[in-house]
Amino acid sequence: MDKLVSHNPLMDTRRGLLKKVGLSALMASAFSGSSVMAQGLNFAESGNLSDDQLFSEVRNQLMLHEDLIYLNTGTLGPAPKLIHDKITALMTRLEANPAIENFGPMGEEMELTRGKAAKFIGADEDEIILTRNTTEGISLVCSGIEWKEGDEILTTNHEHGGAETGLNFLAATKGAVINKVTMPYPATSKQQLLDLVAANLTERTKLLLLSHVETVTGLRWPIKEVAELIAGRDILFIVDGAQAPGMLDINLHDLGCDVYACSGHKWIMGPKETGILYLKKDIQDQVSNVFLTGGYGTYSASSGTRNAPTIIGFGDVLDWHMAMGTKRIEARCMGLAKYCQEKLQEIEEIDVISSDDPELSSAIVSFSLPKAVRNGAVFRDMRDQGITIKRLPQYNAIRISNHMFTTNKDVDQMLSKLKEYLA
Ligand SMILES: Cc1ncc(COP(=O)(O)O)c(C=O)c1O
Repeated sequence: MDKLVSHNPLMDTRRGLLKKVGLSALMASAFSGSSVMAQGLNFAESGNLSDDQLFSEVRNQLMLHEDLIYLNTGTLGPAPKLIHDKITALMTRLEANPAIENFGPMGEEMELTRGKAAKFIGADEDEIILTRNTTEGISLVCSGIEWKEGDEILTTNHEHGGAETGLNFLAATKGAVINKVTMPYPATSKQQLLDLVAANLTERTKLLLLSHVETVTGLRWPIKEVAELIAGRDILFIVDGAQAPGMLDINLHDLGCDVYACSGHKWIMGPKETGILYLKKDIQDQVSNVFLTGGYGTYSASSGTRNAPTIIGFGDVLDWHMAMGTKRIEARCMGLAKYCQEKLQEIEEIDVISSDDPELSSAIVSFSLPKAVRNGAVFRDMRDQGITIKRLPQYNAIRISNHMFTTNKDVDQMLSKLKEYLA
């Protein structure tokens, strides 16, 4: 039996890391609580640290190249080394006795992740399905709802192709009509957005899909107000949350949408191919999908075998966020983004296309380049010089993701390169 209960590699790794980065006595004491040491990534005592101490420790925990400036968490986030090491160790343990582990101790541990996900986004466990990513979550719903030909979907022209896959499927197979609102950039007020939705709803609108945080401009949609606006109408409100959890503090019961789908491998910085799908209790009977017939448990007859090490690692990374505090992480990200916005606003040649209204902005800041400077060239040059950014094809634009582990200095360095192209 002893061999099944494996030695916890996190304790050693954690000590190794502390030694390697040479943290002060303060840092060492901040991580010395027994649960912290046992779990490695549970920053239960992070309240003792200043923001700079905490978030530079987060940076130290990542496996990014040492000098890399990583400003594209919106595409894919870096996972902490301790998570990576834990998953690797679990994979090794799994291979030593696969069936016994997967349908025994490791399988049981994997099932705990659903409860953590529920807590993380302010939902109940029986409203949560662990998916592979946002795309899968939205597609599961769109391919499992009743639809009458000619019924309408309302969405915007700033949605991601992953979300549009489900909508396009409804159009191709069930005759859905997709209406796309043309988005302002930057958006200027909540009322402007609510008016846009209100003006485009019709008697036949049966589904509304919006992003919590838009992939193009980082616009933070007023989801709660939109949910209130459409309350009482027979409209399924799906929110694409790919860019929000891990950046923003989320409470889905408060937001009031019907469906919420997100990925674990972006701002949550979790293992790749992880995701959360939330189905509000009172709409669950509207979603009938073959993959959900075995129930919402992580492993079920209809899910088939899962990747237990990855899903356990996902649960750990959610614990890590919650121990640091999702509100604290949001405040940090917003502070970084504000600095980035302000610095970009000072550059005459570019147009910031993200809103600077605190209610509408997020940790994503995007800007358009002048016509003569192509974003593909800027992206490639920056990539070759150790700065990872995202190019946005629509507007010859660049997107900056200001996650908690980045710094003002990272933005300054990116800007000094940018100015070289603009000169
Ligand atoms: C708003 C939005 N939705 C969906 C996706 C797709 O995410 P995934 O590939 O993890 O399903 C992305 C990816 O960038 C996104 O930004």
